[in-house]
Amino acid sequence: MRLALAETPHRISPKFFYDAAGSALFDRICELPEYYPTRTELALLDRHAQEMASLIGPEADLIEFGAGSATKVRLLLSALQQPRRFVPIDISADHLQGAAAALRRDHPGLDVHPLAADFTRPIQLPALPDGSRARRVGFFPGSSIGNFSPDEAVTFLRQAAELLRGGGLLIGADLVKDPALLHAAYNDAAGVTAAFNLNLLVRANRELGTNFDTTQFAHYAFFEPRLQRIEMHLLSRRTQTVQLGGEAFTVQEGQTLHTENSQKFTVEGFRRLARQAGFAPGPVWTDPKNHFSVHWLAAPQ
Ligand code: AVJ
Repeated sequence: MRLALAETPHRISPKFFYDAAGSALFDRICELPEYYPTRTELALLDRHAQEMASLIGPEADLIEFGAGSATKVRLLLSALQQPRRFVPIDISADHLQGAAAALRRDHPGLDVHPLAADFTRPIQLPALPDGSRARRVGFFPGSSIGNFSPDEAVTFLRQAAELLRGGGLLIGADLVKDPALLHAAYNDAAGVTAAFNLNLLVRANRELGTNFDTTQFAHYAFFEPRLQRIEMHLLSRRTQTVQLGGEAFTVQEGQTLHTENSQKFTVEGFRRLARQAGFAPGPVWTDPKNHFSVHWLAAPQ
């Protein structure tokens, strides 16, 4: 946050959205009528679970990046043959513990091994209880890959290809579409996305002792067609001073704190990205309106 205030343009990683309150707000976003990605991806997972399960194969070691409430994986777990283990990774430790407990309840016998970690950093997987190595398959739904810049996405995918060597990655990618639909998805009528964005300042005030006046920042989200991404910002309504750790920072009127990018893809563009990272793209599932895609990417041997 110090860097975000000290440097212009002001920007901060979207991973800081996900404290307990932010994770709960994100779950509410997923239920919004305007937010089509969750619903559309769930329908794809439901409809094609058998085909996906056969690509994943029996006795897999399934790893989810950014698991959150781990709702989507349930559709896979019920279709999988004897999964060896499920490793949900999330930056929000509390949220993760709750999700893991619920999964253990509903899948007795499944080895659920949550990892509270930042998956943008290299990941070390714990050994399986018997020390053997199972086929590793990654699950990265929701188009969270879109939070990375294209270069960062390739770097992340390269690391994933290494981690998942011999297995594969099942990954969701949101598609370019009518900008009005994209705009609405990040500017919902109920204001939940605005609350999610502003919660970053609430969190900073609580955890870092900043004195952001949340009424003096506007949620501002728009589709940037040249870069094919949604950008989310907090726009300063006036020139204001923010205190952090004994220092004072000025944010000018009309300046923004850039809080998130959400890249949109074409199916071919996404497959190209995957190939650059060393994966061999396989089957792709899309909905009839072409709003969202789920890809099977085979990891190198
Ligand atoms: C969790 C990164 C996929 O980009 O759509 C939702 C986050 N931000 N509404 C997205 C988000 C605003 C979401 N991802």
